[in-house]
Amino acid sequence: MPVAHGVNWWPSAACAKAFWGQQDCPPYQELLADTLDWADPRAGERWLDLGCGGGAISRAIWEKTRGEVGTVVGMDCADANAAAYARHRQEIACDQEERFAFICHDFSSGLGPLADRTFDHVVSGLSITYAEHFDEATGRWTTTAYDRLLAEVCRVIRPGGRFVFSVNVPDPQWGKVAWHSLPGLLAGPKKLRSLKRAWRMMRYGGWLKREARVGRFHYLPADDVTRRLTAAGFAEVHHRLSYRDQAFVFRAVKPVV
Ligand SMILES: C[S@@+](CC[C@H](N)C(=O)[O-])C[C@H]1O[C@@H](n2cnc3c(N)ncnc32)[C@H](O)[C@@H]1O
Repeated sequence: MPVAHGVNWWPSAACAKAFWGQQDCPPYQELLADTLDWADPRAGERWLDLGCGGGAISRAIWEKTRGEVGTVVGMDCADANAAAYARHRQEIACDQEERFAFICHDFSSGLGPLADRTFDHVVSGLSITYAEHFDEATGRWTTTAYDRLLAEVCRVIRPGGRFVFSVNVPDPQWGKVAWHSLPGLLAGPKKLRSLKRAWRMMRYGGWLKREARVGRFHYLPADDVTRRLTAAGFAEVHHRLSYRDQAFVFRAVKPVV
C-alpha cells in the first residue's frame, strides 16, 4: 500500500482489533442480518469474505449452514485477523483449516492469487470502499482500484454466483452508529474493553472520512455503485439501506452467458 501520501492504518494490528468489537452492537447486528438474508448461504458452497476483519460474516455463514458450507475464505490486509480465524476454528470445532481459512492480501492490487471462478459467491462487509489507487501523474487519488476490485470479484465468482456486500453511505454519520451501539457496548461482560474499542473506532472513523474527502476512500451514492457494478459485468443489482441508514447492502449476480 502506498504510504507516501499518508499512512494507511488498516494493515496495523491496532486498527484491526479496534473493529473486532463491532459485532456486539445493534447497528452491526442489523447489517449482518441484512447481509446474511441476501447472501442465503447453502451447504457445500464456496464463499469468499472480502475485507473480512475479525471474521464476523464468515462465522455467520458457517453457523447459518450449521457447518455444512463447503469453504469460507476470509481475505484481509491485516495479518492480525489470522488469530481471530484460528479462534473461530476452535470455537466451531473446524479441524480442517482450508474449510475456514484466512488469507492476508491487499485487495487494492486486485485478487491476483485467486483463479477464475474459484468461488460460488462473494460477501463483503463495509470494506471495498477502501480499495485505493494514487495516480502519480496527476497527483490525485482515483477510483481505479475500486473498479478493478469489482471486476476481479466478477472474475473469481462462477457464472450465476452472487456478490453480496455492504458499503457506507456518502458522509456516514459515525455519531449515529455510536449512539445506537451504546446499549450493546454496555450490556456485554467486558464494558471497559468494548468502550475503548468503540472510542478507537471513532478515531479511525475521523481518519476514514478525511481520506474520503480527498478521494482516497469511496463512500459513493447507491446509483454510482450500481453503475460501477454493471460496468464490471454484474446484473440484477439491488440495494437497501441498513446499519441505521449508514450503509447500503448490495446484491448483484454474475450472469450466466
Ligand atoms: C470496517 S472493517 C470491516 C471488517 C469486517 N468485514 C466486518 O464486517 O466486521 C474494514 C475491513 O477492510 C479491510 N481492508 C481495508 N483495506 C483493505 C485492502 N486494501 N485490502 C484488504 N483488506 C482491506 C480492513 O483491514 C478491515 O478489516
